[in-house]
Amino acid sequence: MFDLIVIGAGPGGYVAAIRAAQLGLKVACVEKSRTLGGTCLNVGCIPSKALLDSSELYHLATHRFSQHGIQVGDVTLDLGKMLARKDGIVKSLTDGVAYLLKKNGIAHYPGSATLLGKGQVQVAGDKPTTLEARAIVLAAGSVSTPLPFMPTDGTQIVTSTEALCFSRVPSHLIVIGGGFIGLEIGSVWARLGAKVTVLEFLPRLLPANDAEVAFALQRSLQKQGLEIHLETKVTGTTKGSIRATVHAEQGGKAIDFQGDKVLVAVGRRPASDGLGLAEVGVQVETKSGRVVVNDHFETSAKGVYAIGDLIRGPMLAHKASEEGIAVAEWIAGKPGHVNYETIPSVIYTHPEVAAVGLTEEQLKEKGVRYKVGKFPFAATGRAKCLDDTEGFVKFLTDADSDRILGMHVIGPRASDMIAEGVLGMEFHATAEDIARTCHGHPTLSEAVGEAARAAWSKALSM
Ligand code: NAI
Repeated sequence: MFDLIVIGAGPGGYVAAIRAAQLGLKVACVEKSRTLGGTCLNVGCIPSKALLDSSELYHLATHRFSQHGIQVGDVTLDLGKMLARKDGIVKSLTDGVAYLLKKNGIAHYPGSATLLGKGQVQVAGDKPTTLEARAIVLAAGSVSTPLPFMPTDGTQIVTSTEALCFSRVPSHLIVIGGGFIGLEIGSVWARLGAKVTVLEFLPRLLPANDAEVAFALQRSLQKQGLEIHLETKVTGTTKGSIRATVHAEQGGKAIDFQGDKVLVAVGRRPASDGLGLAEVGVQVETKSGRVVVNDHFETSAKGVYAIGDLIRGPMLAHKASEEGIAVAEWIAGKPGHVNYETIPSVIYTHPEVAAVGLTEEQLKEKGVRYKVGKFPFAATGRAKCLDDTEGFVKFLTDADSDRILGMHVIGPRASDMIAEGVLGMEFHATAEDIARTCHGHPTLSEAVGEAARAAWSKALSM
């Protein structure tokens, strides 16, 4: 008999299991994949960032080194080695999760879990067994949303999983969906020499991001050679021996695109099938497939909780981890806490895009009186030294109280710099608080200080 069974060992599940064990609970964790770490570590965040970093270095070597006075001659790509490096990073991190489970005394059950009711979980696998616990946390994550008229085949029409392992650089990659996955994976292969065409259904990229930032990213990606077609509705595909033809509609007219690889990246849906949810009374939203939970992540079945991509909110690894920590704390009888107002999002394109809080469009819609403070990286010494001056930092603040309502960054290392806005918002900071915080010189973070100063009063170096 366990105190807690966690189903799924992704960044939601393994974090919940570790936190519960730290709080003294007897914990089991069931995972059906061969390796721990879920989508994020195995086929998502980590391998994609490994390839984004490698391909950025390749791009720098082929396009930018000469501006620094570095002549490198012929730069060649060893794709096999690049992919092996990525696999090595994944292995070290997934092994790290296995180590952490062991270190915290968590029983790892490999196999596929199904709820049986009354705190029981059946584990099918090499060693079938039935486990029992006082509480169960569902952390089964999500799977790629298929296009019903375009089944993936793993070779020509693929999901992100296969697109992270192409054994040669595609000559023309067609990306369906201009969201996080499409733009990141499209960037990798474009930097390595592929022609990349992005087909997006909506009139703009990244509808959840601040429009000014999304347009700046679009312009930048187009400058890098990505072809972006907005308001383009994909309707079908015809597979050929070497190329596939993607059929679409643009402004009421039919248009075809031909490529040797087609990536379908039109979103993800909760992996709520096959867990036996209906049988034990766990309510699932019909349209979205999301598990319904209360404020403490408990489902409609008592003692069964759900977190991460299975439930409402953005499908982000760090959001799942926050929920994993909070649910473990609640189950252990302690206070838990997730602040949904301060969950950052990051897109690892070049330039990177990062955001926290509300966008200008959302503030207008809510009728909030706000101020904008912006500062371009081109006006900072460090960005000039890096030869990476594209982009800006943008603060949105309450016009009356000066409180930060949103921070949006497009530019070098936006992924790391957003942390200052997250911390500021967590502590209800004003723009003046950030402006009066000393930022090291010369750093990229000076743009954060200056943008805050611009929102509160006036930037010094503009
Ligand atoms: P997404 O929801 O970010 O983007 C999908 C895009 O496809 C949308 O813009 C949508 O309008 C478009 N689309 C849908 N149907 C279409 C059609 N028939 N034709 C053309 N366009 C169509 O989903 P994505 O990129 O697949 O990512 C899935 C999830 O994974 C997201 O929730 C994302 O937050 C998460 N993720 C996060 C990353 C990060 O934090 N850096 C990286 C990758 C994924």
